[in-house]
Parts: sequence; C-alpha cells; structure tokens
Amino acid sequence: MGFYCQRVFPRLLNFAMRNRELARYRRRIVGAAQGEVLEIGIGSGLNLPFYPASAARVVGLDPAPELIRMARAAAVRAGREVEFLTGSAEAIPLADASVDTVVTTWTLCSIDDPAVALREMRRVLKPGGRLLFAEHGLAPDPGVRRWQHRLTPLWRPIAGGCRLDRPIAELIRAGGFELKDFSAEYLRGPKVMTYIYAGSAEAG
Ligand SMILES: C[S@@+](CC[C@H](N)C(=O)[O-])C[C@H]1O[C@@H](n2cnc3c(N)ncnc32)[C@H](O)[C@@H]1O
Repeated sequence: MGFYCQRVFPRLLNFAMRNRELARYRRRIVGAAQGEVLEIGIGSGLNLPFYPASAARVVGLDPAPELIRMARAAAVRAGREVEFLTGSAEAIPLADASVDTVVTTWTLCSIDDPAVALREMRRVLKPGGRLLFAEHGLAPDPGVRRWQHRLTPLWRPIAGGCRLDRPIAELIRAGGFELKDFSAEYLRGPKVMTYIYAGSAEAG
C-alpha cells in the first residue's frame, strides 16, 4: 500500500481532478480569493492558475509530500509564488486571525476530523474573512445516499481517505460559519460522487 499511496495515487488523483466541469468551479471559487490566502489540501496545485491578482499571497497546506512536490511545479508553471506547508488542517501551523481567505476544494471528504479542521480554519481567519469551498458530499436523494453510505467503506481505502457521504453544508454551519452564495447540484457522472456543494461562508 505504501508505493500505491506515495507514488501511484497522487498521479491518479491529479489525472482525475483535471476535469472541465471541476475547472468551472475552480474559476468561480478560487477566483473570489482575496488578500492573504490559505489553501487547505492544495494537492497537485490545480487551483493555482485560477487565483486572481487580488490574492496577494497564497499559502498551500497538504499532508502529502508527493502532492506538494507536484504543486511546487504547478506554481512555477502558473508563475505564482506560493509558500508550502506540510501538515494537516486539523492543526494549521499559522497564527490566529492571520488570513483573509481559506480555500478548500474536494478536500473536506478526506480530512479525518472535519469538525476540528473547520474550527482551525475559523481560528486562522481574520474577522470578516471568508471560507471559499467546492466539495462533493452527501446527496439529497435517499437512494443515492444509501449507496454513498454503502460504498464509502470500500472507496475510502483506495481513494486517499475520501468519504462519499459527508454532509458538507451541515458541517460548515456546525463549524460556526454562515453560508453565502451557496449552490448544490449534481454534475454529470456517477451520482454517488458528483453532488457538489459550493460557495462562500463567513464566521458567524
Ligand atoms: C481529492 S484531493 C483534492 C486536491 C485539491 N484540493 C484539488 O482541488 O485538486 C484531496 C486533498 O486533501 C488532502 N488532505 C487529506 N487529508 C488532509 C488533511 N488532514 N489536511 C489537509 N489536507 C488533507 C490530500 O492530500 C489531497 O491533496
């Protein structure tokens, strides 16, 4: 499993996440980032080309060294200076109230304790700062949900810890955020993995 996790999975992930429909979300969500930005779970750096000039500084956090290595190369291609931190969203190595924007895209599914991670995101955001997110998660239809619950234990070990059945909006609200500009819809593809929650949230 070590070789799969460290070498094969990062490449599969990078391939799977290069998707036109996801790029539409990346443009909308990442394009709204401003000021000091922390991207949680930066992965292979696929959001980097979408940051606007108003994102003065971007810090990328991820626990996977191989993905950070790929993101460094993506930063060079995008002509963006990025500071990289190896670590977990459950213990963000930044000071309280130090960032204007937290970005998270297709990452809350993989974090072991999303409640702790969201508390950390709130801690590092300045007053009035925003959480920008695009995440897949629990679908509204009971039949799809049933399959999401059934498949998650099989999917998670081969997909970097990804859970198909996280109630994203509920988790964000429970983390003390108020949702703004919120949308939730199915994309094309298997319904168990394509119900996308996206928008921005402010600490309430
Ligand atoms: C499906 S990938 C998404 C990558 C990237 N955000 C994107 O949109 O292409 C999930 C990412 O979450 C990261 N991740 C997993 N556990 C994490 C944690 N505890 N804290 C921060 N990131 C985490 C993974 O290493 C991976 O980069």
